[in-house]
Order: sequence, then C-alpha cells, then structure tokens
Amino acid sequence: MSTETEEIRGLGHRVKRKEDDRFIRGKGTYIDDIKLPGMLHMAILRSPYAHATITGIDTSKAQAIPGVVAVVTGELMAQHKLAWMPTLSGDTQAVLATDKVRFQGQEVAAVIAEDLYTAKDALELIAVEYEPIEPVVTPQRAMEPTAPVIRTDKEGQDSNHIYHWESGDKDATDKAFTGADVVVALDTFYPRSHPAPVETCGCVADVNPATGQATIYMTSQAPHAIRTVFALVAGLPEENIRIVSPDIGGGFGNKVPVYPGYVVATAASLLLGRPVKWIEDRTENLISTGFARDFHMHGEMALKKDGTMLGLRVSLLADEGAFYADAQPSKFKVGLFHIVTGSYDLPAAHVTADGAYTNKAPGGVAYRCSFRVTEASYLIERLVQNAAYELGVDPADLRLKNFIEKDQFPYTSATGFVYDSGDYHGAMSLALEKVSYRQLRKEQEEARARGELVGIGLASFTEVVGAGPHKDYDILGLKMNDGAELRIHPTGKAILKISVQTQGQGHETTFAQIVAEEIGIQPEDVKVMHGDTDNTPYGLGTYASRSTPVSGAATAMVTRRVREKAAKIAAHLLEVSEEDVEFAKGKFAVKGAPDKVVTIQDVAFAAYTNFPDGLEAGLEGVYYYDPPNLTFPFGTYAVVVEVDPDTGVWKVRRMVAVDDCGVRINPMIVEGQIHGGLTEGFGIAAMQQITFDENGNCLGANFTDYLLPTAWETPRFELGETVTPSPHHPIGAKGVGESATVGSPAAFVNAVIDALWPLGVRNIDMPLTSAKVWEAIQAAGGSKKT
Ligand code: CDP
Repeated sequence: MSTETEEIRGLGHRVKRKEDDRFIRGKGTYIDDIKLPGMLHMAILRSPYAHATITGIDTSKAQAIPGVVAVVTGELMAQHKLAWMPTLSGDTQAVLATDKVRFQGQEVAAVIAEDLYTAKDALELIAVEYEPIEPVVTPQRAMEPTAPVIRTDKEGQDSNHIYHWESGDKDATDKAFTGADVVVALDTFYPRSHPAPVETCGCVADVNPATGQATIYMTSQAPHAIRTVFALVAGLPEENIRIVSPDIGGGFGNKVPVYPGYVVATAASLLLGRPVKWIEDRTENLISTGFARDFHMHGEMALKKDGTMLGLRVSLLADEGAFYADAQPSKFKVGLFHIVTGSYDLPAAHVTADGAYTNKAPGGVAYRCSFRVTEASYLIERLVQNAAYELGVDPADLRLKNFIEKDQFPYTSATGFVYDSGDYHGAMSLALEKVSYRQLRKEQEEARARGELVGIGLASFTEVVGAGPHKDYDILGLKMNDGAELRIHPTGKAILKISVQTQGQGHETTFAQIVAEEIGIQPEDVKVMHGDTDNTPYGLGTYASRSTPVSGAATAMVTRRVREKAAKIAAHLLEVSEEDVEFAKGKFAVKGAPDKVVTIQDVAFAAYTNFPDGLEAGLEGVYYYDPPNLTFPFGTYAVVVEVDPDTGVWKVRRMVAVDDCGVRINPMIVEGQIHGGLTEGFGIAAMQQITFDENGNCLGANFTDYLLPTAWETPRFELGETVTPSPHHPIGAKGVGESATVGSPAAFVNAVIDALWPLGVRNIDMPLTSAKVWEAIQAAGGSKKT
C-alpha cells in the first residue's frame, strides 16, 4: 500500500490550466472546425429595415443558382410550425420573419448551398419587398400612446409595454424619504453594449434521416436547456437530440439565448437529410445576437445630515428590443436588479421597473453579469458618490459609515435578499491602504491648486451569484440546479462530468482541483467533461457566475458521496471498521495510527478487484445540487485618473481591485478572471456602446464603430484579496467570473466625476469618450473654474 506524500494540488493551488495545451497549439475544436461528410452551408438574409411590413419575397432567382440546395423563408418554416419560437423569457421570437421585420438585422430567409460562397451570393438574389413603418428606437418613444405597436403578432398586445415590476416596500420607503434631511437624485443611462465574444455564434446540425437522431454542435452556454427547448419547439423526442458544445471562444452571456440560425439549420438538416453548418460573421453577431444593459435609471437616496442612509427609491425603463428574449429567472422581470441596495444597511427600498419593446435586436443578456446586477451596482455606486459630495463628506467615509457590519450576516436586505456573508469594511480598508487613499486625497488638493484635474473613484460592490435555489429560480420553468457525475477508474484516474459549460473560465482545471481536494486524486488525473448532453448530467449552464456556486458545489458533494464508499473499501483494506477510518490530506488513515494509510488509488483498484462482501463494485456517483441560497461576492475598487481639460482625454494612473470571492479554488485563474472582468468594465466605462440612428440602423456593426479595449489602452491592475467563505457552499467558494465587470465601471466613472466635480459636472453617462468629457467640461464653464 502506498504511503507516498506528494502534496495534493486541491484548493488554493495555482495549477496551470489543463485546457491551455490544446488552445495554444491550435488544437481546440470550435464550431467552424467541425466538418462532416456531405455537409451543406447556410447563410442568412437579414432585414435592412428596423421596422417594415413584408409584402413579398421572391426566391426564384436564388434557387436557380447551381449549388443552391434550398432557400428557406418564414412561410416554409410556418408550414412546419417553426416560424416562431419561444424565448427564454417566455416571449415569442420570429425564426424567419413572415409578417413584419422588427429590427435591422432580423432573419428573413436562409440559403442552404454546397458551399458558403454560393450561399452568400444567392442571398443577394432574394427579392424582398418591404413597406417601411416608423421605427421605434427609444423605450421612451415606445411607451408613448402614439408609437406604432411593434408586436402586432401578439394577441391583446396593444402597446409596446412588456412588464411592470416592483420590489421592496413602497410605504416604508416613502416614510424614510419624508423623514430625510437630504435627498440625492441621479438620472443615468447604462448604455447598450455587446459582449462580442471572439468566436461568433454558429452550429452544425446533423439530423440522421434514418434514425431520427439529431446531433447539433452549437455555441451554447446552456446545452441542456437548449435541448429541452428544441424538443418542445420542434416536437423531436428529447432522447434523440444531442447538443454538443465543443470549445467555445468566449460567451459572456451572448451564447445563452436560442438564436433563429440554430433552428433554421436544424430544420434544414431535417428536411434535406444532410448536415448543415451556419456560422455568423462579425457584423451579424454584433447586430442580431443578444445585447446587454440598456437601462434608463432614476435613483434617489434619502439620508440624515450625519450621512446615515435611510432609504432608496429606484425606477427604471428597460429597452428590451423587439423580442423579450434574455434568460431571466421567471419570478424576476429585471433579473437581480433589486440587489440595488448594494453593500449598505439601507432600512427601506422600493424599486419599480418597466420594460418596452423597441425596433432593436433582443437584449438584456447576462454579459459578465448575474441577470442585471451590473446595472444595479452601477446605479448605487454612482449615487453614493454623489451623496457624499452633496453632504460634504469623503466618499470612502460615507461608505464605511453605512456598510452592513460583519456581524450582521446573514443580512436581509430591504428588497428581501439574504446576504450570506461579507466583510465590506475589510475589503475597503485593504483597497484604501493599497492605493494610499488618504495620502492621495492630499495630493489631489495640491494638484487641484495647480489647476490639474485628478480624480479618485471608488466602488464597493456586492454581487449576487449562483442562481439558484429551486423555490425562486427557474428559466422557463426549468429549475436552476446543476449536476456533477464522478467516476473513478480502477487505476485511480477519474472522469468528472459536469452540467456547466466552460467558455474559457478554466473549469477543466478548477473542477478537477475540487475533486483533488475532496478525494486526493491529483487534478491532472481528473478529466473534466462538459458540453455534451448525451454524456453529462442535466443543468442550466454557465452564465451569471453560477458554475462554481452550483455545479462546483455539486462536484464537491458527489466527490464526498464517492468518498463515503471509498472509506468503506479503505476500512476493508486496512482491516478496521469504517468508523476508524479518517480522510486527511488525500489519504485514508486509521484514526490514531496515521502511518496506516491507503491512497485513493489503492481504494480505486480494490473497488474493482477486492471489495468487501455485500458492497457494490465500482466507485462512482452523481449529485444534483440545489443551492440553499445565492452567494454574495464583494469587493472594493479604487481608480485614480487624470483628465486633460483641453481634450477630455482621461488616463488611468492606478487601479486597485480588492475582491472577495470566498475560498479561491485556483488563485491564478481567479486573478485571470478579475483581469478580464476589469478590462471589460474599463471598456464599458470608456468606449463600448452600441448606438442606433433615428431610423434604427445599428451603428456598432463592426470593430471600428464598436470599440473594445486592446492591451494598448487597458490600464495596469493591482489586485488584492480578502477571504470570507460562503457559509452554505460546501467548499466556501463564491463566484468570481463577473465581479470585476459588475463592480468596476462605477469606479472608473466615479474617478472622472471626482476630477470634474469642482467644475460643476455631476454626471456623464457611459461611455466616457474624451469628446463627452470635454463637452461636459465646456458645459460646466470650462476648466478655468478650478
Ligand atoms: O460561471 P463561471 O465559470 O463563468 O464563473 P465562476 O463560477 O465565478 O468561475 C470562474 C472561474 O473561476 C472558474 O474556473 C472557477 O472554478 C474559478 N473560481 C475559483 O477558482 N475560485 C472561486 N472562489 C470562484 C471561481
């Protein structure tokens, strides 16, 4: 029996990402790498108009081109009852337009051809007659009674209003405001942005006419949920549908929804009996797939003169685009927006939200965000900063005064969330210390005296991830629980099958580390499998930082379940009773006799060769995890900027980010996640915005119009950490994938506003382009006022 003492690289180890070998050698398998015998290619014709009636479609010329196998229209799809599909929010969305087009870029027809060039050429020969209708490009216009109704397809829908939703206690909030010394208000717009993953969306649909088996290789963050939706939409037996999501080149929420291209390619493969590949080009991805944000928000905070926060009132109007299609838990119309009380002990809050249809592509995806928590975090952190200035107190001190105290956890917020744990003072103190905050404020005074515009911005975010407990969280009725299956082979190597789907987060490494921690098999000996619905347990997928809190927990739990059986076998091998065996540092040892040990490898071999009478052979298990609560990562970000008064150009001098995501499985991967998230937060604050002209033309259709930060403009980040384990997560972990994008935009904007506040600038909506900053300086009377 082995007594080797190699350290098990479980939690807390900076294990290099196992998946990187194949990525850096170009050996990954993305959708476009999949080539099946006899495969056809599909291209989609999209609407040039934002809003128009379709009066005719002539496909005859396109059909006549050699190499074209089929031209699919909405009418053909309607014959198979597939012209419309359900969305993940319970709305309907056109697969191929039949009556009207409702956004520029909407899918109108598809050509299936022997090669992509022929398919694209044929698109140009499809003649569509449109009668333009007034486009509705803002939610404010959409809500006016005179606005044209966009969803004329929906019975009883006589306006563009989708929902009205409320949260919190209105009376208590009104009372708090009546008793307030100071009320601070902020109107702000969180602009529409696009996650823009490097790999665009696409699929290869392969329906075997002989067996009815449909194998669909798809860029999906939620393959199991998509399989069920496909079974319901297409009426195919679910056991005959296999969704395979191979390597995915980034998702960021963009690859959660069901897109028409997936449905048309599958229908075409079914009808033609050949595999069909569909891949978007960059412009198609940017103009037609799920956007994010687009919230017009009004916030008011009531405070006492001494800075004590009394209440929060928020109203918002969401631009949902032409189809309400984002995946939100059905109970919460604007996702987790009502976490808007942030890190503060706010006794009363009331939130109202309205959603409107507009002539834009569907939006609202969880872009590095847990269902709208980004918008919530931004609003509260901007509001708190402005409140500090109105009261004449330091923004750090106002936060420290109002934070929920460490001993108040579990803490029930004014909108009903039970925060599991936190130490907001700890995270902020560390961030202030790292950035030398008090010293910086002195230096800022001196700089101001010299006429320089230096700003210091803070954001202390509390997030909410890990959806979620089955009583409150579902998508289309499917509960948001996730599974993990562990199988240990005779030689002590294991395979872990998980329901979530990595798109670059490193699950193949971190989930193997959880197994290593729990049972002592080194991470390199645990193969992690995901993204294949035939071969992994059911689950709702990877978005909104739910992988670690839900499937990561399932992984720990299934490993413990397998460990219980392993302990029985160990007892048999050690010739003691099960109660006398303990598991420590990756080994099963006899209590009180630590040198009498067996390793998991010894046990695994015995599970197939030498197991006790009455015990089943083998060493495997499956576990579905229903989290008892969400988890609440948090942190404080501090940003120092200098603004050039003559050009509006702002530069980040320093960016300190202190994150607390509970126990870190792999600190290196966590830091990578934070770096990525901060970069996206910076991009959103500084440049990322999709705009539309008055005709509804999308002005962000390529990477010269829709700007993303490159390494050139991205600032350097200085990281710090505190560790407050989640009390209800089996390994004490919280999610981290999205925190930095949730928390950081407010820190960047707060820094610029901090620089400009003495000039009279109170708000600039993101993105803070130099032109906008310069205009704000001019509107406030120029920089000479300092
Ligand atoms: O759902 P998604 O994977 O995007 O987000 P996540 O659960 O926050 O995890 C992102 C990556 O960070 C995964 O590889 C996690 O296992 C890892 N992580 C970690 O190592 N320690 C934590 N406390 C949280 C996440």
